[in-house]
Parts: sequence; C-alpha cells; structure tokens
Amino acid sequence: MAADLTRAYNIEDLRGLARRRLPRMVFDFYDGGAEDEVTLRGNRAAFENLRLAPKVLRDVSKVDTGCEILGSPAKLPMVIAPTGGAGFSWPGGDIAIARAAKAFGIPCTLSTSTTATVERIAEQAGGRLWFQLYVLHDRAFTAKLVARAAAAGCEALVVTADLATGGKRERDFRNRFAVPFRLGPAHVLQACTKLHWSWNILAHGVPAFENLRGLVPPGRASASAIATSVGREIDAALNFEDVARLRDAWKGKLLVKGVARADDAERLLRTGVDGLWLSNHGGRQLDGAIAPIDALPSIAAAVGARVPILLDSGVRRGSDALKARALGAQAVAIGRATLFGAAAAGEAGARRALEILADELVRTMQLCGAASIADISPDLIAR
Ligand SMILES: Cc1cc2nc3c(=O)[nH]c(=O)nc-3n(C[C@H](O)[C@H](O)[C@H](O)COP(=O)(O)O)c2cc1C
Repeated sequence: MAADLTRAYNIEDLRGLARRRLPRMVFDFYDGGAEDEVTLRGNRAAFENLRLAPKVLRDVSKVDTGCEILGSPAKLPMVIAPTGGAGFSWPGGDIAIARAAKAFGIPCTLSTSTTATVERIAEQAGGRLWFQLYVLHDRAFTAKLVARAAAAGCEALVVTADLATGGKRERDFRNRFAVPFRLGPAHVLQACTKLHWSWNILAHGVPAFENLRGLVPPGRASASAIATSVGREIDAALNFEDVARLRDAWKGKLLVKGVARADDAERLLRTGVDGLWLSNHGGRQLDGAIAPIDALPSIAAAVGARVPILLDSGVRRGSDALKARALGAQAVAIGRATLFGAAAAGEAGARRALEILADELVRTMQLCGAASIADISPDLIAR
C-alpha cells in the first residue's frame, strides 16, 4: 500500500510519508547528515536566508520553464542528483526515479551505488541518463564501470570529488546500519511495525549495490564502514591528474561534483571539464561546509560563461531553483526530494516530488515577474 499522495503538498510532506513507511534505519540513512548536521541544516538556512525582490506588472500569463542543460533541452532547470540505495525503500526505487525524470523531461544521474544495474535502469527507464562515478581503489573495476555507463548510453559522467572518505553519519552508527542489511533484534522489531516495507523485502529480496557486484567481498560491510561499504572502496588519492585522464577516456560530457571553491573551479577548467557541480553532498560529508548556494556567487564570477554550473544540497522548493538560476547556476540537482517521494510511493511519489517542485517554480516565476528562465535575472535576489 502506497502513501496517500493527495496529502503531500510539499517536499516536507513527502518526507513525513517516507518516515512513516520506512524502518528507522532506512529513513535515517536517507535523512541524516554528518556529525552535528550543521551542514545539513545550513543548506536549508542558506536558501531561506536569500530574499527575493520581485518585479511586478510583467506579463506572466504564460510561463515557460524550458531551458538548456549541458547543451540539450530540458523542461525544467533541474536534474536528478545521484542517490545510492534508492531501492532500500522501494523495489526498483532507482528505476522509479529515472522514469519520473523522463516524464518531466529532465536528466537523471545514476549513482555508482544504485540498487539496479546501470544497464537495467537504461533499459527500463530510458531518458537522459548521466552516470555518477566514485573512483575506487580498484582502478580496473572503475574503468569497467565507466565503459558500462558509456555502453548503456549515459551522456555525461559525473565524477564525485567530495568523498575522500565516508562522512561520519552518526545516525547510521547508532542504528547499526549496514549493507547488506544486518538484522539484529532491534531491526526485526522496526521491520515488524513497517509491514508494507517488510513485505516488499520478503517478496523482492534484500537490495544490494548491483553495479558493484564482484567488488566488495561479502561480510566486509560494517556499521562504521557505512556511509556505506562503498566508502572504504573509494580512492582518497583521487586528484586533478585523474580527472584529466578521465577527460581523455570519456567521450561524452564530463562534470565534477562536490566543488566548493573558485580556485578548484579554475583548476578543473584547465582539465577540460564540461561543467561544475557545486555540492556538499547534502550535508553527508564534511560537517561545517559552506552551503553551495552561498559559494555560488564567487564561483560563478570566476567561471563566467566558460562552463555551466549545477548546484545541489538543500533544494526543497521550486523557489530554490529560481534563486540558484539568479545567482548563476544553469540548474539545480534534486537529491532527497525525489528520494523521499520514491520512498513514500515509488514512481508516483517521485513524480509527485517533481510535480510539487515544478508547480512551485512556475508560481515563483509568476510572482517574480519572470515569464521564462531567461527572465530570471541576478537582480531578483534582494541585496
Ligand atoms: C541517501 C543518499 C545517497 C546518496 N548517494 C550518493 C552517491 O551515491 N553519489 C553521489 O555523488 N552523491 C550521493 N548523494 C548526494 C546527492 O547526490 C546530493 O549531493 C545530495 O543529496 C543533495 O542534497 P539534498 O539531498 O539536500 O538535495 C546521496 C545523498 C543521499 C541523501
């Protein structure tokens, strides 16, 4: 039984529905941030602290949210951010989110740690797919992942740079969360109160990181390894030369995710990347990190029009997309919003999340006097 989506008016409502449906260990894995969760809260506060200076008496009887993202058309200035483990909450959760993205005409970034293979998602969802890459100690395995993403038709490779080690997510430690799920008495007790979720696990099997089969030897995952077992496999030696090598190897668009500073942006431009993705991993990595929306003005000033900038972390309202556009981003990336939607009601829930964000964006544009994405100008942000 899926949640009643008619009661979800905003992303926070979808989060509430997800919380009710999921055992605590899964909800906390999605919802939690690192350490004191200062970054997590700061991401929202940064958007909320930006005030708009609306223009009036513009004809906004028709609003067009169409735009270009990485050189191709999109229906909204949004992309789906990679979220590993979407299938922990709903069977085929990754496919559900990718289908929702296709329905809304936006690109979807598949995580290295999806719970369905990149090939299966491409076959069952289609649409504009990007592949997010964690560069692993096992560079041969990493190269195979890149080749698989290319063969599956992914148009962009997104190299995540802000996970030199797993963030210290204390909720996961307390819940003894591990992949594959470790089922101690407390977990069984949680599962007993979440019958729909438990039934799905019994019927569809325990979800795993399907792209990584053959990489993590069974039994190595532990609560402390989780910002998942993948955390320990990621190569902390990753550097600018590696990005340059990936640039040579990958024929499609190449982006680097996790950028927070103008000097790093400059160095990345010299490696030939096609885009920069500002992110603090939704507050899951470095606690106390700057919110990407606060880092955006200085990075946009340094980068100019050379490459597009995407931004995530804390996007929960359509107005957040307008604020990011006004400050120089081409699009925002949606992380937990669609993840909570899919956790609440599978594909219908992920669609509901995008419907809410799209509706809010249109309203905000109308109320700001912007009939098109091109009308979203820097002076809409009150100084
Ligand atoms: C449960 C979860 C799993 C994630 N997995 C990945 C991942 O595999 N790769 C990655 O680059 N980012 C991952 N992220 C970070 C997102 O791509 C994105 O940066 C973040 O969710 C944006 O913040 P928001 O959730 O506040 O929108 C994950 C985030 C969450 C919540």
